[in-house]
Amino acid sequence: MCGIVGYVGGQSALDVVVAGLKRLEYRGYDSAGVAVLADGGLASARKAGKLVNLEKVLVEQPLPSGPAGIGHTRWATHGGPTDANAHPHLDNSGRVAVVHNGIIENFAALRAELAGRGHHLGSETDTEAVSHLLAEAFSACGDLAEAMRQVCRRLEGAFTLVAVHADEPDVVVGARRNSPLVVGVGDGEAFLASDVAAFIAHTRAAIELGQDQVVELRRDGGSEGGREGGRVGVSVTDFSGAPAEVRSYHVDWDASAAEKGGYASFMLKEIAEQPRAVADTLLGRVDAEGVLTLDEVRIPDAVLREADKVVIIACGTAFHAGLIAKYAIEHWTRLPCEVELASEFRYRDPILDPRTLVVAISQSGETMDTLMALRHAREQGARVLAICNTNGSTIPRESDAVLYTHAGPEVAVASTKAFLTQLVACYLVALYLAQRRDAKWGDEIGDVVRDLARVPDAIERVLADMEPVRDLARSLKEKETVLFLGRHVGYPVALEGALKLKELAYMHAEGFAAGELKHGPIALVEDDLPVVVVVPSPRGRSVLHGKIVSNIQEIRARGARTIVIAEEGDEEVAPYADHLIRIPVVPTLLQPLVATVPLQVFACELATARGNEVDQPRNLAKSVTVE
Ligand code: F6R
Repeated sequence: MCGIVGYVGGQSALDVVVAGLKRLEYRGYDSAGVAVLADGGLASARKAGKLVNLEKVLVEQPLPSGPAGIGHTRWATHGGPTDANAHPHLDNSGRVAVVHNGIIENFAALRAELAGRGHHLGSETDTEAVSHLLAEAFSACGDLAEAMRQVCRRLEGAFTLVAVHADEPDVVVGARRNSPLVVGVGDGEAFLASDVAAFIAHTRAAIELGQDQVVELRRDGGSEGGREGGRVGVSVTDFSGAPAEVRSYHVDWDASAAEKGGYASFMLKEIAEQPRAVADTLLGRVDAEGVLTLDEVRIPDAVLREADKVVIIACGTAFHAGLIAKYAIEHWTRLPCEVELASEFRYRDPILDPRTLVVAISQSGETMDTLMALRHAREQGARVLAICNTNGSTIPRESDAVLYTHAGPEVAVASTKAFLTQLVACYLVALYLAQRRDAKWGDEIGDVVRDLARVPDAIERVLADMEPVRDLARSLKEKETVLFLGRHVGYPVALEGALKLKELAYMHAEGFAAGELKHGPIALVEDDLPVVVVVPSPRGRSVLHGKIVSNIQEIRARGARTIVIAEEGDEEVAPYADHLIRIPVVPTLLQPLVATVPLQVFACELATARGNEVDQPRNLAKSVTVE
């Protein structure tokens, strides 16, 4: 949610910042802007709409080249997506520029205070107040980092701020509270960014900033030019000015992971990467004796043994992964498991204590709703285990333990490979808990681990046969509504299929537990309404299979066009399918890993057929860092 880039070094700051913004545009695309320090002054440009609009402005009215600059791509919170509300925001003298991600909750009081002192604020944003406050503080102390510390002490809410001042032409300063900011350290240059994707083309050496910290990038000897011409010092303090401890790490993605690699969209690339991503999540988790070793789970075995409840918190697609995890956790561990939308969790006084194990699932590791829910859980004494895809992000940092999914960067706003890898991580957590608690399913664990290892091949087979799904999707592009039904683990899959279609194709799509149909939703069924049904395996739980076959007949009798996702060899359901999508046979609990894939392809193709941009659906952003 909002992408921020800052740069100091021997390259043209403008070029580096704009290239970085391109990699961060998934975080928000309501407007974009840049500011550079050059020729003793500050030059800036900003434009509503996607980054390409800003790039046109920069061609028509080029900015001077300089060694330091900042940039922003916005997901609007305070104030609509207009030029005036686009970042950077400057103070009245035009010598300070600020970009911001987050929400400053006391902004109204700050704006009123500034207006009272004669400042003119031209936008509706909370951010502009910060540029004015920074200018005032800098006039008094003459040091941008110190000015930033003073201002941050006055701010309430969540923010990442990055600023430059024309009087310090080789300095970029950043600050963070409850919102991401990472430092990239290169050779004679340094970067600030919301996400490492902005700078991995230049360096993979990164520094993780902690909560309530201010970072200063200062270039010495910069006038000599060239990357080797200057040295960039990085200093980090807390908001009171005390030096802060930071953690350096190596980014293990390479730049190509953040490129489309020949695919028409990041989403298509990420769908295709799922077999590899699932294999990477599994890699190194099971030793030669079949014992699960989840290195990052640093919660003592005694605590895991004594846990009396698991609570999963997550949002959106990650929440659907949690709903599926509940079936696995309860089956394999016999521990009760609750799954809750993170945005609701802390407002209902949940029952938590040190025997509660909370699992927080988040691709980005920055989702504010999930972060706030996990903080609430820890305050009540619960242990928190994060399942996350983003190394060094806030959610794993604030958890007792973390299991990284290793899916690689997910750039498309709609989650695909992150979802499948979250599911695999959830299965691993469930099995790990079962093993540590000596659950009676001990023998089953080895079998499940072997079944999981076969899933990448099964996904590969699904992907190899997607042309009929694409044809079907294109044929439905004029429809207004699609319903999704499932039972057992197929129910959350139905919810996920509906979510994908809503966010990508902008269609009315709803997922239901098939058994609930007769309690109301069946009234929606009318002639030729497309209804996607995720059919459980006929093996083992055939009662469930029989029931869903009846449900399909019920909707078909009322005119629905049935799109049935069923296991290879399931012939019983075939006569009732207007369209039949086959998936490989896998154990029931693992079926979502294969059944979700056609639904992703379906939504992506339908959205494309309707002329929508699949990587950046309207109104959305990848990392939702506001509540
Ligand atoms: C949907 C989607 C979102 C995210 C949700 C949580 O395709 O991507 O629903 O799943 O915003 O995001 P993370 O996992 O980053 O916490």
